[in-house]
Amino acid sequence: MEMKSFLYKDLIDVSEFKDEGEKLRKNYNLMPQGIEIKYKKTRGKFNLESTTIPTQVPNSICIYSNPIYYVMHYKIKKKLEKRLGKRLYPTYYFERVYLNGQNLKKHIDRGACEVSVSLHVSSNIDKDWHIYFNHGDRIVSYKCDIGDAVVYNGVEIQHWREELRCQKNQYYHQIFFHYVDADGKYAHFAYDR
Ligand SMILES: [Fe+2]
Repeated sequence: MEMKSFLYKDLIDVSEFKDEGEKLRKNYNLMPQGIEIKYKKTRGKFNLESTTIPTQVPNSICIYSNPIYYVMHYKIKKKLEKRLGKRLYPTYYFERVYLNGQNLKKHIDRGACEVSVSLHVSSNIDKDWHIYFNHGDRIVSYKCDIGDAVVYNGVEIQHWREELRCQKNQYYHQIFFHYVDADGKYAHFAYDR
């Protein structure tokens, strides 16, 4: 899908989840190697599938298919379909709590991330922490307030974050919702996990 990144102000109300990032930070902060937890939904129920060490952002806290964001994945899909004028299929979602010293290396994603949403839920850092996109001829960066998201084609647009420099007890909580164009070349990734 041809799509430049854009900032979607007030995409969704995340106020009921404002403490989730801090909860995760507190629970898992003592694990120096970080943690990556995966849930899987089978026959309508979420079960813990695996617990490993995160690879994309070492030492971060990362949860796939956290049941509390399941409905949000669909609500955002509806909003995006209107905005983009396209039918979408959901693929998967995950959240990450970034901590001091972490960065997101410049990368592109796999097909299941054709339409990617990086939603800012909460943070307790006292500055902005931008996300960057390479649009070929220029680099674009965005600063998100709580409830804002950046929408981008994760397969085609390189994206990254510089190192987060903050205190030990600070964090930055993002959820990533992924979709594919239902009429596009990645449609077979629908409901991917
Ligand atoms: Fe990515």
